[in-house]
Amino acid sequence: MKKDMHQKREGFSSSIGVIAAVLGSAVGLGNIWKFPYVTGANGGAAFILVYLLCVALVGLPVMLAEHLIGRHTKSNAVGAFKKLEPRRPWFLVGGAGVLSAFLIMAFYTSVAGWVYAYIFKSAGGMLISTKPEDTSLVFTTLVSGVTEPLFWQIVVLLVTGTIIMAGVTKGIERVTKILMPILFILLIIIDIRSLTLPGAAEGLSFLFKPDFSKITVGVILAALGLAFFKLSVGMGAMITYGSYIDKNENLPKMAIKVALADTLVSLMAGIAIFPAVFAFGFKPDVGPKLLFVIIPTVFNSMPFGRIFMVFFFVLTAIAATGAMLSLLEVIIAYSTEQYQWTRRKATLLTILAIGLLGSTATLSNSILAQFTVFGKTFFDFYDFATSNVLLPVGGIFIALFVGWQWGHTNVKREMSNEGQLKNDGLVRVYMVLIKYVVPIAIVLVLLVGLKILQFE
Ligand code: PFF
Repeated sequence: MKKDMHQKREGFSSSIGVIAAVLGSAVGLGNIWKFPYVTGANGGAAFILVYLLCVALVGLPVMLAEHLIGRHTKSNAVGAFKKLEPRRPWFLVGGAGVLSAFLIMAFYTSVAGWVYAYIFKSAGGMLISTKPEDTSLVFTTLVSGVTEPLFWQIVVLLVTGTIIMAGVTKGIERVTKILMPILFILLIIIDIRSLTLPGAAEGLSFLFKPDFSKITVGVILAALGLAFFKLSVGMGAMITYGSYIDKNENLPKMAIKVALADTLVSLMAGIAIFPAVFAFGFKPDVGPKLLFVIIPTVFNSMPFGRIFMVFFFVLTAIAATGAMLSLLEVIIAYSTEQYQWTRRKATLLTILAIGLLGSTATLSNSILAQFTVFGKTFFDFYDFATSNVLLPVGGIFIALFVGWQWGHTNVKREMSNEGQLKNDGLVRVYMVLIKYVVPIAIVLVLLVGLKILQFE
């Protein structure tokens, strides 16, 4: 048993590896698909400002909280709470996190499947039109099918499952280390193209000129939910990754770097998309299909566009895959450590379960379209229930746990690497954030935001 535990606690092998993996979790479909369309649906710049506040004041402190208890306990999301408070039901917070991982994976693998499919569609010349109606049709045909989207969802699960089975260092770390720099370079290239389109200015002002009349409580809830989803916090993914982080790593510094880099990638995705949206006469509020319709039209209007488009979807696929690795790892770390399953068994059973649940998300664009939960299709329900409810609620409890239960002395010890780093002032500011600002802000937004939803 002891030996078993040691084998499982592989850990990331270098600082670069840690950043790559954590950033690999944060950067994903959230940046390239969700951030642009949610921003588009909520009025642009004013939404982004609220989002940035949510990241700085809520998302970042929760990320750090998760890293602190993850690294300290060297445990999965459930085990961490059990180790620190064996006699109280705090482990349920981790349990809700594992559930969230399943629910997010259900719709995330569906969208990732569309992205994988687009690699082949763009390479095979099925997306060569510069007319939005044509690219729109390709998308609608894909998602409203049955076997094609299910097939791609299964491919996604097999790919992520294979990497996860290879382990933390050889799987997760190795893959994310290659992906991140390439993704960044490609985004720069696409940004340049988008910015030089005639009519790009309108898109930029949509992104950067706030109109505060657009801010409602619904918008604030959307921004908070997106901040949680984006940074992969509120569900123990960062506890799990935290448990693989070396004890000499400067945790606050790393969390700040990750949050900044992640935000930068989101903004760069916005710059890639919105100038093109306006230049091609689209509406910014078309929802989830934004990426799948706009990006092909942009690429098709540039020299060597087809090659770039293939690259773009390859990289989006890899970014999505990096994020899914962390979602899967939440479940795998939990089941291997709490039930002593082998990594192989855990992975196979998990992807099977996600495949079944995920098919209901995928088919909610076709044969399950008329089935709704709280007035939402399965796809939308999994998305809403996690981003706007489970993750923020998880965030409240993680903050309360670290701020009030675990407390200042323990936080200080872990955050300063047992006194090696001199960051007392930072710890004090952090305690105020995690004890008061984070829980109060989330509770307020949830109360008002969810009540409003009942009236809508
Ligand atoms: N942060 C990922 C994204 O923005 O695509 C999504 C995600 C990954 C959410 C891992 C939650 C998580 F645990």
